[in-house]
Amino acid sequence: MLPPSTPITLAFVFLVGTALAQYDSDIVNKCPQVSPEDPNPDPLYYSHPDDCTKYVSCAFGLPYVMECPNGTVFSDVITGCVHEEGPYNKCAKRPENKATCQAGSRNLIPHPDFCQRYYNCSDHSDKRMSYLGKFEEECDYPDLFDYVLLKCMSFKVAKCAEGTKVGVQPCDYVRNQCVSSHCEPCSFRAPSCLGKPDGLHENTIKLWTPFHVRCESNRSVEFLECPFQPPDSRFRMLFSPERKACIPLWEIPKEKSGLQPDCAEKEEGRFFATDESDRVFYDCPFSKVFFCDKEEVFSEESQKCVQT
Ligand SMILES: *[C@@H]1O[C@H](CO)[C@@H](O)[C@H](O)[C@H]1NC(C)=O
Ligand SMILES: *[C@@H]1O[C@H](CO)[C@@H](O)[C@H](O)[C@H]1NC(C)=O
Ligand SMILES: *[C@@H]1O[C@H](CO)[C@@H](O)[C@H](O)[C@H]1NC(C)=O
Repeated sequence: MLPPSTPITLAFVFLVGTALAQYDSDIVNKCPQVSPEDPNPDPLYYSHPDDCTKYVSCAFGLPYVMECPNGTVFSDVITGCVHEEGPYNKCAKRPENKATCQAGSRNLIPHPDFCQRYYNCSDHSDKRMSYLGKFEEECDYPDLFDYVLLKCMSFKVAKCAEGTKVGVQPCDYVRNQCVSSHCEPCSFRAPSCLGKPDGLHENTIKLWTPFHVRCESNRSVEFLECPFQPPDSRFRMLFSPERKACIPLWEIPKEKSGLQPDCAEKEEGRFFATDESDRVFYDCPFSKVFFCDKEEVFSEESQKCVQT
């Protein structure tokens, strides 16, 4: 047994040494998957959902349950087995979810750590492809589980028990996170509104695209796409981070994926047809666009819309 003063780095040795090596199909597989591009993924260790003295080790894309040596527990902080009494032991001494359900007289039990989660003791569904443990459930974002009324409710009214963490960003909810590798990361799909004023905001990872988000009380309450733009509805408008609105491509410079006409080397005081549509024309030097009526096209020669 190691004396408590042993440097923490020694604890890493245990990860190689103690092998229970038991494949457990009840464990959520968070292992990097073997693929033609990555035939030998980096090793990964993560904590066991129910038992601090165990951890999960990945081999060829599968999770194997391993045991820490006696007197040590697995620490997420340093990814290794650490002394139970030491400062790196952050393992919450939670009863297993099963025990929580057996001990409780109720069917729905608020989660001790997260206000958006709860236990549903009559739900025996398979949680293997999820970050939730057995019986553990999560409200739909941005709802929270009211610990008095025992149901998911709007975050505006739900009461959270003291000491529970309140999920605010979409990716605080584990059900929004990816479980497979063919999944667009949560933060790309569901931008955070934390610290942003109420109203429309750009998706900071997808600037100058149709994608944007409506924020309310730091929550991303609606994920939106700009509508198609008149008159021909071939393209969607793009969301302008400057104007916080969907604006037509005709007002967005080409270097930002827009279609704003360029008046460079064009005669001033004249109108020109756009490259994209013969119904759309613009004036120089202002690059402002105008539209011909249906069944008309712009003629540069006569400087007006003419019947086709
Ligand atoms: C750990 O302790 C248990 C009893 O508490 C004992 O049965 C087991 O053999 C010990 N394991 C090691 C690796 O020392
Ligand atoms: C609890 O689980 C049962 C069985 O799957 C289901 O019918 C019920 O809707 C669940 N309740 C909640 C609040 O999740
Ligand atoms: C939003 O979050 C900020 C911290 O980033 C906080 O100061 C502010 O009070 C929050 N606003 C609302 C409405 O909850």
